[in-house]
Amino acid sequence: MSTTPLVPEDHKHVLGLKLPTDPRWVDLTQLSIGDILTDHAYCEQKAATSCISLIQTFSECTEMVRALAPVVTEEWGHFRAVLAELDKRGLPLGRQRKDHYVNALRAFERKHDKRMDRVAERLIGFALIEARSCERFRLLSLYVNDAQLREFYHKFMVAEAGHYRLMIDLAALYMAPEKVEQRWQEYLDYEAEIMQQLEIKGDRIH
Ligand SMILES: [Fe+2]
Ligand SMILES: [Fe+2]
Repeated sequence: MSTTPLVPEDHKHVLGLKLPTDPRWVDLTQLSIGDILTDHAYCEQKAATSCISLIQTFSECTEMVRALAPVVTEEWGHFRAVLAELDKRGLPLGRQRKDHYVNALRAFERKHDKRMDRVAERLIGFALIEARSCERFRLLSLYVNDAQLREFYHKFMVAEAGHYRLMIDLAALYMAPEKVEQRWQEYLDYEAEIMQQLEIKGDRIH
């Protein structure tokens, strides 16, 4: 891993997350790599689908559409990379699991009157999912037993860090930057609560 880390040691601060992942999570993922890969594959599928849905719903947001179109391709590329990793290991894709983390975050979404506030709200929520995914991929890239998987996860960590930044920057195009900052902080506080309440599961990325 010779590349300059996009997510430095104080990644918690960089990403803004208020609660670091419980270190026991990485140990639990080791029990069944197939399960974590299955969940990861669907996370990438949902990331691609969410970008498509934003494009469809807010097609008038030209800059966002232009910025997210290549992200759809990238996230789908991630899905395919995870699928290839499963294939290499002779493992099936498996079934999608209920995403308690994302469902809890979606429940926090505010129903703004203004359409542009609504698109920004969605982007802020997605930014948070990207940030937490990035933090978790970083842990896998450092502590998973399998050296090849560590390298595999390093690439995802870097990509999701970029997406987190992009989503926040896009949100600020449609909502006043100080309002984005305020809402982002509210999301971070709420997410820390979710993280505390959710059972730590080794077969889930979140
Ligand atoms: Fe991704
Ligand atoms: Fe992403």
